[in-house]
Amino acid sequence: MTTERTLVLVKPDGVQRGLAGEIIGRLERTGLQIVGMKLMQISDKLASKHYGEHEGKPFYAGLVGFITSSPVVALALEGPSAISTTRKLMGATNPADSDPGTIRGDFGVDMGRNLIHGSANAEDAVREVALFFDDSELVAYDRATQPWIVE
Ligand code: RTP
Ligand code: MG
Repeated sequence: MTTERTLVLVKPDGVQRGLAGEIIGRLERTGLQIVGMKLMQISDKLASKHYGEHEGKPFYAGLVGFITSSPVVALALEGPSAISTTRKLMGATNPADSDPGTIRGDFGVDMGRNLIHGSANAEDAVREVALFFDDSELVAYDRATQPWIVE
């Protein structure tokens, strides 16, 4: 088990629908540790960096328009297998294919309104956490519960 950090965004639909607390709560209850968290408005510049891999695809303009349309909650989560654990809780990209019990499966019905972003792999996670958080915004702290969460 490697300790990892991952970037999560509660997307504008999640914030607008009042689901930020529910979504963060589900992630928090896994035992992953919140090491960064903020409500923020994503600029066009940040969106194009974050979604650079999708530039040129037919859904790109809609994706950037959506992610910049209203604030998001950005989180940096830390713990063993943080990246894959978060992706599992999120569910498949298209909520129509997401299992019940996942965030997208429980709260979404449309591909373009799938509530949450989570880094896809270790390389993306390092890049995305650095894109959204300055070092000074990432907080290292001990939890008394840690031995009850990680052996
Ligand atoms: P995310 O980046 O948002 O965590 O989602 P993901 O890894 O599961 O999906 P990704 O392939 O990275 O796509 C990013 C977002 O673009 C929208 N999308 N639309 N219409 C389409 O074919 C299409 N494909 C992707 C989705 O909203 C997806 O979350
Ligand atoms: Mg992705």
